[in-house]
Amino acid sequence: MKISQQTYQDSISKILISEEEIQQAIQKTGAQIDAEYAGKPLLLVSILKGAFIFLADLSRAISVPCEIGFMQAQSYFENTESAGEVEITLDLTQDISQYHVIIVEDIIDTGRTLKLVADMLKKRNPLSLKILTLLDKPERRVVNLKADISLFTIPDVFVVGYGLDFAEYYRNLPYIGVYQNPAESDSQKISTES
Ligand code: IMP
Ligand code: MG
Repeated sequence: MKISQQTYQDSISKILISEEEIQQAIQKTGAQIDAEYAGKPLLLVSILKGAFIFLADLSRAISVPCEIGFMQAQSYFENTESAGEVEITLDLTQDISQYHVIIVEDIIDTGRTLKLVADMLKKRNPLSLKILTLLDKPERRVVNLKADISLFTIPDVFVVGYGLDFAEYYRNLPYIGVYQNPAESDSQKISTES
């Protein structure tokens, strides 16, 4: 998809969480992890691609020794309520039975993909397993999944930036913004005027 500079700018209707707010929350979380994981073998597991920027900043706010691993998952669901199946397209290289694992996610929305990945990792017997997410949209949850640490709870809006995308764009914004298709907001304007 090709997109103009104008559309790129016009698609963000509002900044929901500023760069400063994100960085402050990350520093606080880093200190919390330092206190909890001192002296423990720690592995941060990130699910590509959305969490890559969050992981980069969070890992630099942590000062206890830690390793980093990446996974990529493709999930299939027969209907919106189904448990579904997950295909791991990129797996960890570490044997996680030797580690305290923290899954680092960008956002928990319905929670379905993360539930499948977390259940799969549990079967590999990590020393412990926690779920940490930058954003949580609890209103949209369809499975029973709770983050152990969530930096921001947000309403049911589609957000982009700081790693999160729409059609692969906007991951490079330094803040979390609300995405609004400019074509749709124009048509809304016309219909309310007429
Ligand atoms: P799930 O519904 O919790 O399984 O979320 C799956 C994935 O959907 C997340 O990891 C994100 O990549 C994506 N996603 C969910 N909500 C948003 C959003 O508001 N903006 C961008 N991506 C989202
Ligand atoms: Mg994601």
